[in-house]
Parts: sequence; C-alpha cells; structure tokens
Amino acid sequence: WPETVSVVDGRLWIGGCDTVALAEQFGTPLYLLDDLTLRGAMRAYRQAFATAYPGPSIVHYAGKALLNTALAQIVAQEGLGLDVVSATELLVAQRAGLPMDRVHLHGNAKSDQELERAIAWRVGAIVVDNLDELQRLCALTSHLTTPQGVLLRVAPAIEADTHAHIATGSATAKFGLPLEALDEAVAQTLAAPSLRWLGLHAHIGSQLFALEQVTATVEVLVALAARIRDRFGVAPVELSPGGGLGVPYTADQPATDIGRYAQVVSAALCAACERYRLPLPRLTVEPGRSIVARAGVALYRVVGRKGEHWVHIDGGMADNIRPALYGARYSAVLANKPASPPAMTVNVGGRYCESGDVLLRDIALPTVQPDDLLAVATAGAYTLSMSSTYNLVPRPALVLVADGQARLIQRRETEADVLARDLLLDR
Ligand code: LLP
Repeated sequence: WPETVSVVDGRLWIGGCDTVALAEQFGTPLYLLDDLTLRGAMRAYRQAFATAYPGPSIVHYAGKALLNTALAQIVAQEGLGLDVVSATELLVAQRAGLPMDRVHLHGNAKSDQELERAIAWRVGAIVVDNLDELQRLCALTSHLTTPQGVLLRVAPAIEADTHAHIATGSATAKFGLPLEALDEAVAQTLAAPSLRWLGLHAHIGSQLFALEQVTATVEVLVALAARIRDRFGVAPVELSPGGGLGVPYTADQPATDIGRYAQVVSAALCAACERYRLPLPRLTVEPGRSIVARAGVALYRVVGRKGEHWVHIDGGMADNIRPALYGARYSAVLANKPASPPAMTVNVGGRYCESGDVLLRDIALPTVQPDDLLAVATAGAYTLSMSSTYNLVPRPALVLVADGQARLIQRRETEADVLARDLLLDR
C-alpha cells in the first residue's frame, strides 16, 4: 500500500482522500497514484546512488511501467531521466518538458520514424539493440554535424531468477547484441563520424529480488568494457545495468530495498573497475516497477457474486493483464470496510469474456456484497500501461492524490474514444 494509506471512519484513505468518495466522483474502475509514495521512491533512488556510488550517476524512470504527461512532469521535477521505447513515449517526454539529454530511446525493433524523431530531438542516447539497427542508425544520422550518443545493449548470457516472460538477459533472448557481435558493433560505432559511443547497457529482467545476477551483469559489462579498451583504445563513459528491482505484491515477498540495491550495484561496479583499471563511468539505472508500483491503487466496484466462491468486478484483464499473463498475485481489501475481518475466501473474476480473467485467486475478504468497493494494492506498474479495450470497454481514469487533493491526470476513455477509429463500410 502507498505510504499515505489509512483508515478513517471505516473507509480506506489514500493521499488524504477518501477512496469511496473518489470512486463516486470519478467512477470505477479507477486507478489512483499517490504522489508522496511516487516522489519518495524517485528521491530514494537518487539519494541511494548519490550516496553509494563515488562517480556520477543518473536514475532513468522506465516509462513502459506507466507513462503519461503528468507523470513525466514529475520525473522532470524530481531530476530523473526517462527511458522511452516508442515515438509517442518520446513525445510525452517532450510535452513534459524533460531535457532531451536525460532521455534514452530503447527497443529491439525501433522504426526509422522513431529513430528519426530521437535523432532530431537530440536524445541523450539511443540504446542500439542489434547490428541491423546500427547500420540504419549510421544512415539516418549521416547528415549530423554533432554526433548522436549511442549505448550498445548486450545480451550478457545471464539467466535472471524471475518469470520466464520477463527474463531478458539470456544469450538467446531477442534483446541485445550477442557477445560475439559486440566487437563488430563497437568497430562500426567508432568508425561512424555521426555516432558517439558512450558505453554499454544490459537489462536481465524484471521483478528481481536476488541481486547476484545483477552483480554478475555489472561484472560482465565491466569485463567487456575492459576488452573494448584493450582492443580499441577507448573506455566507456557510461554503463547501465538496466532496471528490474522487485516489489512485494503479497505478504510473503520481501520489501523493496532501494538502498541495498544501490550499494550492491555500486560496490560491484567500483570493484570491477578497480580490477580492470578502468575509470569509474557514469552509472545509469532504469527502474520502472520499483518507482511506480507501490504508489498505485486500483478501485473496482463489486458487480455481484456467484455462489460461495466468485466475486465479480467491473474491471479485470483489460486494465490489469498481469494475473492472466504471468500468474501475478495481488493483495486487496474492501475500501468501504477495510478493517472488517476476513469472512470468506473467494476468487475475484474480472468482467471480460475469458476464463483466465481472474484478478485475484483464493483471497480472504470480509463478506462481500454487491456495490462494495475493492481496492487492489501495488497496482501502479504494468497495468494501465498494458491496458486494452478488449470487449470494447473504455479504459479507466487515473487520479493523482496528494495532501487531500485529487487531480485527474488521465481521464476515463469514452465510448466515442473507443469508436474513434471505427469506420463504416459504406462511405
Ligand atoms: N530497462 C529496460 C531495458 C527494460 O526492458 C525494462 C523493463 C526496464 C528497464 C524496467 O524494468 P523494471 O524496473 O520495471 O523491472 N510487463 C512485465 C514487465 C516487463 C518489463 C519490461 N522491461 C510485468 O508486468 O511484470
């Protein structure tokens, strides 16, 4: 739950706001984002790395976890950078007034149009994923007089201990240059006058708790950097071991320890640089989930029940596909009676026409009645950002709560929005 969670007069409050009143005002499903928790995580990251790492460091929020212009404005205000993976995410960064040198463009299949926008707007780095992309980038930058910064993403051949769908570091993953291709990529980058090689990047996966593989990733990056120095005579100015720090969704999972993460990453980087006699590079980290997940709360209206075991709600897999896609589990309470003791163990079924649309399995709740309000915790990351209009249901609104004030930062989709691209046959 967000830091500001409390129970007032038998109702769940977040950010100084009564969630029951917010659900009435904005409708359901409704996503809340707690400003204090969100900014707290951003500050914790910046401070932890500033303290732990003796060289320069920058924290880039990974926008794929959740992105809209207001959130990007908060990223800018808090002094973070932003990782984007599409032309429209890049446009959001621009609308928010983020300095473009604090923006990195990622992706394994960037289009020419996306690369062109990133080049024209002078993003700090394009994170090159493969040799074909590098070739296109050389062509697309050939007119430049000041070179475009480039990080080379490698597949470090490290298996992260997480769900297979969100492990990205194996040698055969779709992401990143295989280690055999790295020398060729460095040679091409250094030979291109329109490119400036900044360094190396790797991201091994998401929802990580064990940090051994993160340490191993840092060591691989430094070893590769030393090899490049020896062969090409240039040392990297920047290294990024990606994002991936896990968050607890249920009581059995460990707490997120940003301070420890920063210490472990920094210590590994310092030790490896010393071993290989490399100057300390700028350290970039790219957390998404561990910045935004905890700040988010999803509110659903209970539509009805079926027998003893099913509670039906007005949202589900189209606003949060994680249970269906990864078997993800969440914690929840009834926002209109959060202190009532559990009285039943139920499955909470989403409203979408698919058997896999079960938001919560075997969850203990007080006696649930139609019109109760279900609040799901840790709902900020990879929910709305992965939402769809399955069954042509409009997507929920997003409200930022702070100090008793609720600000709509993404309005609810309307039926007209959903049908805006829908064209009649006889025109
Ligand atoms: N950097 C890169 C290059 C990434 O691919 C990702 C996430 C991140 C940073 C941020 O990772 P985080 O700190 O959020 O773990 N939809 C999945 C997660 C996919 C993660 C994709 N890449 C889920 O809901 O669990």
